[in-house]
Amino acid sequence: MSGPGGAPALEADGVTVRYGDVLALDGVTLRLGRGTVCGLIGMNGSGKSTLFKALLGMVDLTAGTVRVDGGTPARARRRGAVGYVPQTEAVDWAFPVSVRDVVMMGRYGHLGITRRPRPADHEAVEAALERVELTDLADRQIGQLSGGQRKRAFVARGIAQDARTMLLDEPFAGVDKRSEATIVRLLRELAADGRTVLVSSHDLHALPQLADEAVLLLRRVLFHGSVAEALEPDNLARTFGLDVSDARGGEAA
Ligand SMILES: Nc1ncnc2c1ncn2[C@@H]1O[C@H](COP(=O)(O)OP(=O)(O)OP(=O)(O)O)[C@@H](O)[C@H]1O
Ligand SMILES: [Mg+2]
Repeated sequence: MSGPGGAPALEADGVTVRYGDVLALDGVTLRLGRGTVCGLIGMNGSGKSTLFKALLGMVDLTAGTVRVDGGTPARARRRGAVGYVPQTEAVDWAFPVSVRDVVMMGRYGHLGITRRPRPADHEAVEAALERVELTDLADRQIGQLSGGQRKRAFVARGIAQDARTMLLDEPFAGVDKRSEATIVRLLRELAADGRTVLVSSHDLHALPQLADEAVLLLRRVLFHGSVAEALEPDNLARTFGLDVSDARGGEAA
């Protein structure tokens, strides 16, 4: 599972992103190895989604460089090496695609020249549906799922893609505790399998079960290290601009 030349799975070096006057990321440097789940923690507007987009080559960098799997983000995406579950899906919910079709989209990077799914693709899709407990709803039109069920469908798409690196932007938002536990278990399995998972979350209580390491982001990386240390009140206070006594409660979104 090591990349070309044993390169880190994800590397950001001095990444700065501006949207007009807004400085969204300011010199973010980050390296993630393989076989790890890293929690990305930060308040609203701290740049989490922008960091995901930078790692995917979906925003212009004002400065800095990004490497995924030892190459450019564009190369990683072409090879299906990086999976992404966005915070919000830019989809037409009325479009006549089923849940199963959505999950099959994760296989596009694997389809041969005919673009026709093969048995292995169907198997990967069914396995992913099962893992997020959506088998029963697989034939439903995607717009006819609840918010949390949709979120799970898009997580299944990422799982079906079988990417070495998975980027998940708030996969737990609007998802109930049971589904959250299912997704946490899945992400742990991916890491145990040598994959790299970067996942943003506002659920600090679940962080110890979810992640091996954590990044605290406020336009720049305030901290990168163990989850226990990330959750120390002083670190949370700096991250969320909270009173230290408030931060101890851990409810921060
Ligand atoms: N397309 C855009 N144009 C202009 N400003 C943007 C754009 N996207 C994000 N921003 C700004 O960049 C900053 C970082 O936004 P980003 O979406 O990365 O934050 P976030 O940490 O993901 O927040 P949240 O927790 O609310 O999802 C914010 O100030 C936001 O208003
Ligand atoms: Mg966001």
